[in-house]
Amino acid sequence: MSKICPSLLSADFSALGDECRDVLAGGADWIHYDVMDGVFVPNITIGIPVLKSLSRKVEAFYDVHLMITDPAKYVEEFADAGAGHISFHIESESDTASTIDAIHAKGILAGVALKPGTPAEEVFPYLKDLDLVLVMTVEPGFGGQKFMADMCSKIKKIRKEANRIGRKDLLIQVDGGIDADTVGYVAKAGSDVYVAGSAVFNKKDRGEAIAAIREAAKEASGR
Ligand code: DX5
Ligand code: ZN
Repeated sequence: MSKICPSLLSADFSALGDECRDVLAGGADWIHYDVMDGVFVPNITIGIPVLKSLSRKVEAFYDVHLMITDPAKYVEEFADAGAGHISFHIESESDTASTIDAIHAKGILAGVALKPGTPAEEVFPYLKDLDLVLVMTVEPGFGGQKFMADMCSKIKKIRKEANRIGRKDLLIQVDGGIDADTVGYVAKAGSDVYVAGSAVFNKKDRGEAIAAIREAAKEASGR
């Protein structure tokens, strides 16, 4: 079953609670929460206190994508603030294996994210321990960028390796430029969790936008 995760980066930040309620009523599976520190990526967004307030008011599965230099330092606080899943970048300064362990120690899902320039093979040693791999289909930092179709071969390689080691259940998430037109490519390549920011929040009817992405993914993958 595919999951659709609207990214709050394209939401109205003055009304985050209502924006979350709107996409959840429209069928969103997870709320994608992008955290940027202005160092790992050239943009600054929201962090721990905002997640804490939001998760207290709006019950949802919060999918936290950390685009920060030292994610290990903040894992506990994001988990306590309400994260259901935390993904961090393999290119960050934190040690990958111990950061995965720290996330699991909080009883939540752990994911590793790869920038477009990072080869699939870099995540292979960690696949057995991960719940999810996040394949970036744009350079992290901003919403509304163009989808990179050449990331499909990376998704295929990760799916193949996960199957080889008996991890058919590994989730592969894609993030960046995903809409009803592009989702088919990544769904066919083997991903099953779709982040969409502008393609959901820039539409008047968010439920319709979510349904269109879900339908296109299903048609392309048969899943
Ligand atoms: C980009 C973020 C994405 C972003 C996607 O660095 O990680 O989650 O919000 O936005 P769209 O779907 O507009 O490309
Ligand atoms: Zn993201």
